[in-house]
Amino acid sequence: MADSVIRLEDVSRYYLMGEFVVKALDGVSVDITRGEFTAIMGPSGSGKSTMMNLIGCLDTPTSGYIDIDGENTAGLNEAELAYIRNRKVGFIFQQFNLLGKLSALDNVITPLLYAGVSVRERKSRAIHALERVGLADRMDHRPNELSGGQKQRVAIARALVNNPTILLADEPTGALDSRTGGQIMELFEELNSEGRTVVLVTHDRDLGMRCHRQIHLRDGKVEA
Ligand SMILES: Nc1ncnc2c1ncn2[C@@H]1O[C@H](COP(=O)(O)OP(=O)(O)OP(=O)(O)O)[C@@H](O)[C@H]1O
Ligand SMILES: [Mg+2]
Repeated sequence: MADSVIRLEDVSRYYLMGEFVVKALDGVSVDITRGEFTAIMGPSGSGKSTMMNLIGCLDTPTSGYIDIDGENTAGLNEAELAYIRNRKVGFIFQQFNLLGKLSALDNVITPLLYAGVSVRERKSRAIHALERVGLADRMDHRPNELSGGQKQRVAIARALVNNPTILLADEPTGALDSRTGGQIMELFEELNSEGRTVVLVTHDRDLGMRCHRQIHLRDGKVEA
């Protein structure tokens, strides 16, 4: 399908634990279209993070195929996978994963260091991304000088700075109170309405319902 941005075809990810096989993901097929806003839901251990890491090319499947933006990732070497991680996908995590010694601005600049962008352009793009998330007045703050919601905004700016096709957020509101989480959700809704494909893992039913589509995992399989 021409407009498919994320396609999983019979994807499995098994872990060998001594003599046991953990089927973290077990024969999952999913097709996500450009501009869709999808929630991945399911109990703890059902395979949500495993699926996100595979989509984001942080991990590779035991079997099956994953196409990102029309490209089959199975044939790619490490450098080509790194290119997809850097340019096509923006990752956002529950615990923000910011570098504590760097300012908000320098955290957002980090992905551009690998993208061969000039020093001046790096700075202007990072400032623009921080403005986009409403943090223009906190650029010089370090993570420990920011609130949880502000930290997550920095992480979202960092995910946006390379203008990725896909935003992947693994429980982005999990460490925030419900009001702050709601504001972060609004930001994802805005980014999605601008055309970006968003995939979000959440345990929160209300947040899940705000997405166009919910994929429910159980024991590594798509339940609904
Ligand atoms: N590196 C690993 N080695 C072995 N087993 C793993 C590994 N990573 C995940 N698993 C197992 O795979 C299954 C799925 O894990 P995953 O992290 O994808 O769950 P999840 O749905 O994200 O759960 P949670 O809601 O708690 O974050 C779990 O049973 C987990 O124990
Ligand atoms: Mg998880």
